[in-house]
Amino acid sequence: MMATTNGPGLKEFAPDIVLVDGPMVRDFGFPFTTRMTIVRLSDGALWIDSPVPVAPDTLAQIQAWGPVRYLVAGTPRHVWRLRTWHRQFPDAELWVCRKQPARFRHLPWTGVLGPKAANPWASDLDYHVFQGSALLEEVCFFHAKSRTLIMNDLIQHHQKQAGKPLRNALLTWAGSSGARGDVPLDIRWSFRDRARARQSLAQLMSWDFERLVIAHGPCVEQGAKDVVMQAFRWLR
Ligand SMILES: [Fe+2]
Repeated sequence: MMATTNGPGLKEFAPDIVLVDGPMVRDFGFPFTTRMTIVRLSDGALWIDSPVPVAPDTLAQIQAWGPVRYLVAGTPRHVWRLRTWHRQFPDAELWVCRKQPARFRHLPWTGVLGPKAANPWASDLDYHVFQGSALLEEVCFFHAKSRTLIMNDLIQHHQKQAGKPLRNALLTWAGSSGARGDVPLDIRWSFRDRARARQSLAQLMSWDFERLVIAHGPCVEQGAKDVVMQAFRWLR
């Protein structure tokens, strides 16, 4: 059985895209909200990015929506989340980004999403491996049918909370408390090759998207291109 959470279950975000919020996790002592993205592909199969622990009734809802066929980690920081889901769905294909923690290399990966790799979901999803960072190589996905850009960690939106001045000050310092989402400072500083990063940003902006899914913070339902350009303003 999968771990349980008090999360509210499936949230319809866009045509054929459902989001599920998971439990809070801590990274370097800082609390992070978590979220997984489920896309129903045109053949009815489910593609899941950054799966989170869910309650049994939520899992039943997901299975009723379609067969879980692909489990994906668009960022190396979310690879650990695939392990439990793979136990639950051993026949699902596991897809991972290139740079991943060594302790997960034993998992039976179906494939690696690299800049020159094939796209197994070409009829539904385009993808681009964001280049230029020495720290992480995040895979960004574009779902044309719903005009949605799916990101994981590159853009985050940690909302300030009343009565927590220390946390709020830390968020401001970390560069991730922008009005609608920002690239945190630790990730910004990791972009040593700004020219390649600008090329990647141009690739994202070439997609005709209106919505933006992020893993940490509120998603954007309209005007997402402005949000992305604002979040990457330091690249210009
Ligand atoms: Fe993350």
